[in-house]
Amino acid sequence: MLRRMGSEPTTLDMFADEAVQAPRTEQIGPRAFVLRGFALPLIEQVLPALQQVLEQSPFRHMMTPGGFTMSVALSNCGRVGWVTDRSGYRYTRIDPETDAPWPALPDVLLKLAQTAAAESGFPGFTPDACLINRYVPGAKMSLHQDKNEHGYEWPVVSVSLGIPAIFLFGGMERSDKTQRVALFHGDVVVWGGEDRLRYHGVLPIKHAEHPLLGEQRINVTFRKAQ
Ligand code: SIN
Ligand code: FE2
Repeated sequence: MLRRMGSEPTTLDMFADEAVQAPRTEQIGPRAFVLRGFALPLIEQVLPALQQVLEQSPFRHMMTPGGFTMSVALSNCGRVGWVTDRSGYRYTRIDPETDAPWPALPDVLLKLAQTAAAESGFPGFTPDACLINRYVPGAKMSLHQDKNEHGYEWPVVSVSLGIPAIFLFGGMERSDKTQRVALFHGDVVVWGGEDRLRYHGVLPIKHAEHPLLGEQRINVTFRKAQ
């Protein structure tokens, strides 16, 4: 039988369709996903919005309760911000460095967090905390659980910008085996539900140069803290 021209897609057409339509989502847990490049369509608004936040509340290195200075520098925006010092980890409404409230959460960041959460099965996410972490080569984040929030019914939404990182995604115990997930500029990771309290961390960042951000990685995480 003669195949009618244009009636059936060729293999190449099918790949082309997939490239356009596939969300490039990778599942790393029952309710945990990596959305590849999800932040890229908004990136030209996201970077200036972060810049503005950082002009009001600049990056600083905080001390852990154990007395170590974190290799990651941080700032926050939103109703509350995550801080650490000798007395512990907590959320505050006031930036302890400026004695002023943390900068408001820019609309574009809220939109990014909400759409990534909805895409991952968490519609209606309204984060009140946005932590901005800066990693330079050598900086790392040890395995930890995000559990300074009042409840865990909402996911963590984590946006990676700048040079790559290896994200470790473990289990409910620190000693559980971890998955290694390479994260690149524009990738968004969402973990909630039964995955919400999984241990996670970041291996020491390798030297690299990003065309927009230079020799650094910026990670922006959204949470419902209160
Ligand atoms: C975090 O766990 O707060 C940061 C994760 C990351 O930098 O990817
Ligand atoms: Fe975390």
